[in-house]
Amino acid sequence: MKLGVNVDHIATIREARKTNEPDPVYAAAIAELAGADGITIHLRQDRRHIQERDLKLLRSVVKTKLNLEMAISMEMVKLALKYKPDTCTLVPETDDEVTTTGGLDVVMYGDKIEEVAGNLKAAGIEVSIFVDPSIDQIKACHRLGIKVIELNTGEYAKSWNNSYAILELDKIKKVVVYAKKLNFRILAGHGLTYQNVAEIVAFEDIEELNIGHSIIANSTFMGLGKAVRRMKELMEKPYK
Ligand code: PXP
Repeated sequence: MKLGVNVDHIATIREARKTNEPDPVYAAAIAELAGADGITIHLRQDRRHIQERDLKLLRSVVKTKLNLEMAISMEMVKLALKYKPDTCTLVPETDDEVTTTGGLDVVMYGDKIEEVAGNLKAAGIEVSIFVDPSIDQIKACHRLGIKVIELNTGEYAKSWNNSYAILELDKIKKVVVYAKKLNFRILAGHGLTYQNVAEIVAFEDIEELNIGHSIIANSTFMGLGKAVRRMKELMEKPYK
């Protein structure tokens, strides 16, 4: 299973002082050297962490795969077409949220998503959609001709260690089976940590995890390279 490392929170620390360190571009290079299979950034419309400068530099520095998380807006489409990340992951975005809250509602925003995804695909950019583990959302993605989905593991992560986790894992299981039958490439992420990742790694049909906060948080104590390697180890041998 592949690991995409989200370096947004390196930029969060930089923006706390509006200075030039730490640099998410350095972080991406260290994460790749430590075994990351891809680098993810979310260029938010309020620019609270990642800036356009980061997207520009990361586009030329990242050697694995650059994944841009973005809202379904034409401003973001223009930036994606300018810098051409390998993948764009469409996510919901509101100003008052602390982090992405829930998946994008593909049933509700189908027309807008179709327009945004159409523009990105025409430029050769792969489109992934961040969705909650719900069959209706997968059906809506299928209707739009989407081929890659990232399942939101946020609710599972919140419930890990209590009795709701089994229900959340069951939802993910049903959706993975359904999406696989429809030939989706299935990714997952949100809220994953060294403690709760094993249950998600157990899904063989999930090919990649996107993990940010926990890796960056742990990097403050152990260094970024080690924090990435530890996650990779747990994804390779989850029960050891
Ligand atoms: N996937 C998506 C679509 C996200 O928005 C985020 C958070 O930026 C992540 C994965 C990573 O979540 P976390 O930072 O909790 O690991």
